[in-house]
Amino acid sequence: MTEYYQFPQDFIWGCSTSAYQVEGAANLDGKGKSIWDTFTHEPGNIAENHNADIGIDQYHRYKDDIALMKWLGTKAYRFSVAWSRVFPNGYGEPNSKGMDYYDRLIDELLANGVEPFLTFYHWDLPQALQDEVGGWESKETSEHMANYVAYVTQHVSDRVTNFFTINEFGGCVDLGYGEGIYAPGLQLPMKRVNQARHNVILAHGLAAQAIRANAKRDVRIGVTEDPVLPVPIMDTPEHREAALKAIRDMNAHFTTAVLEGKYMDSYLEREGENAPQFTDEEMKIIGTPIDFFGITMYRPTYCRASDDPKGYEMLDYAKGHPLYDMDWIYFGPEVGYWAPWLMANAWDIKELYVTENGCACQDEMTKKGEILDTDRLTYLRNHHAAMHRAVSEGVPLKGYFVWSLLDNFEWELGFTKRFGIFYVNHETKERTPKMSAHYYRNVIARNAAL
Ligand code: NOJ
Repeated sequence: MTEYYQFPQDFIWGCSTSAYQVEGAANLDGKGKSIWDTFTHEPGNIAENHNADIGIDQYHRYKDDIALMKWLGTKAYRFSVAWSRVFPNGYGEPNSKGMDYYDRLIDELLANGVEPFLTFYHWDLPQALQDEVGGWESKETSEHMANYVAYVTQHVSDRVTNFFTINEFGGCVDLGYGEGIYAPGLQLPMKRVNQARHNVILAHGLAAQAIRANAKRDVRIGVTEDPVLPVPIMDTPEHREAALKAIRDMNAHFTTAVLEGKYMDSYLEREGENAPQFTDEEMKIIGTPIDFFGITMYRPTYCRASDDPKGYEMLDYAKGHPLYDMDWIYFGPEVGYWAPWLMANAWDIKELYVTENGCACQDEMTKKGEILDTDRLTYLRNHHAAMHRAVSEGVPLKGYFVWSLLDNFEWELGFTKRFGIFYVNHETKERTPKMSAHYYRNVIARNAAL
């Protein structure tokens, strides 16, 4: 049967998580502390003072979780490696027991026909690097990251083909060193934030080179970023044009720098004295060619054409614009079309993935033990349909990862928010498929938005 919203045969439907959010086992098998281990233990930082020491315990339950993936039929699993599991102090002697865990995970995925997509850094910096060199404020951290990446690549590249260097630069720096709501909880002045931003994209470039230099076979390298996604308020040529200008300009410090290997003049002028210090050589490293780009896609930010010299104007959300159970997840599934379209047209990217898409909902179990998350299902379905439009127009969107496989530790909000398509009972750790998991299972089986 040909479906109305049929995706290409090789389209990859996957699921995403990250180490600190799902693993638990914070102090086991020689793991060193990360900044998130420290931050979550300082009272007042996290909702209800939750921490993920045990969390949802994928460290011990990975086989069961992979069985869930098999039931879903998911083709790929995007997970991250906890740097401080492999190098407890961020550098120096590796911890073989930590590496063993990822060997077990990868082998089990492959044995079940699930392709591993490995992210090297999803925010859990070894605490030792924060203490010794000031974390992302120092280029030494970028260099240590390259060495860690080289080591893990040598170890797993016989089995892992797809690598992401870093997850969301803003989550590494802006929220942790600027706003202070993420680890390490600093509120630095803008000049230091911009320098840390620069150091983190430098780490991306160094990591991309380290993967290339150390892989045992042909592997594929990307980054997964959360650019502002300016969606034209309506589909007219002038608003499209405005959105293309906006996406470069609004993301000048991260996405644009990485994809163009330089900072836009308008960005450097705007930042003035607060602009980062950098060399031409570093910009070359930052612009190291990659094979694919991952977008974490949750919401649109609306824009329109303007007479302003910038050529665009960003619009606020209306007061009553529908929100999910998260104060920034505005419903606007048309972003499923526009995000890939904008990325492909602003930068001529050859291969794109949606590396995260999902929403928090107030899930409740019925008396029958079901979770009827009509809200999440609607969110996913409409994003999938919009993505279909992009794919049909030839935009090179090659895959999609739902955020998240499981309810997990949502950073400063702890376990108070649920993003999973599987419900997790946080007392017993039991997993139950929500209605959205049944939906996604059908999507994967029929390779279509339903
Ligand atoms: C993006 C982050 O990568 C992920 O860790 C987080 O849980 C989701 N956004 C939802 O906030």
